[in-house]
Amino acid sequence: MQLIKAKDYHDLCHKAAELILRKVKGQKKLTLGLATGGTPQGVYRILVEEARQNGTTYQHVTTFNLDEYVGLPPDHPQSYHTYMNKKLFDFIDIPPQNVHIPDGMAENLEEECRRYEQMIDQSGGIDLQLLGIGINGHIGFNEPGTSFHSFTHVVKLEESTRIANSRFFSSLEEVPAFAVTMGIASIMKSKEILLLAVGKRKAEVLQRLIYGEVTEELPASVLKMHQHVTIIADEEALSSLS
Ligand code: F6R
Repeated sequence: MQLIKAKDYHDLCHKAAELILRKVKGQKKLTLGLATGGTPQGVYRILVEEARQNGTTYQHVTTFNLDEYVGLPPDHPQSYHTYMNKKLFDFIDIPPQNVHIPDGMAENLEEECRRYEQMIDQSGGIDLQLLGIGINGHIGFNEPGTSFHSFTHVVKLEESTRIANSRFFSSLEEVPAFAVTMGIASIMKSKEILLLAVGKRKAEVLQRLIYGEVTEELPASVLKMHQHVTIIADEEALSSLS
């Protein structure tokens, strides 16, 4: 794992966007794995602004999002479909058919999970997967205890995750209890992984990730077994390391 230290959130977003843009501009065909949540928002803002200024094209880019809530229609304000459209897709020229987000409204969710995993494989696999990290070490919505052999599946969200995400809803009750998420094995199939960690809230989990053992109790620890992982963290997130 390569660790890149960023001064603050602004610096972290620029460093992450730079790495992504190098791929977008340098590869004829690119498959990106994308995350939602608070952390990547500033990265998406930079990508949007850069495309507006330089006319950077995303015609050759395919995307797969990590996860989606079960039971929220795509046009729900808090769905990850809406998040991605509002933060990125509405402002770049990516062909709509190249965009993939799990369908949390599918009648048969098991079938949807199989279909999603197959589509990732059919696209040739993810070249660069962007990840945030939960305070309990989750990646995607893979909560502690998730098998390292899991592919896209339905999960029951932990209370701590629902509480953390309730800041985007008007009340905790509105936060869905279930989600569809790429599994740990799906994430590990990516050729390259970029994990972002920001703020004091992430300091303890980052310390456990860097110094602790590889265990299913800390899902992100699996990344130590991947050969091409970059972590970009700001000073606050790194504050428990020294
Ligand atoms: C988002 C996702 C989650 C978040 C994590 C951190 O698609 O899969 O694993 O990356 O919960 O969220 P933030 O960035 O809001 O701290």
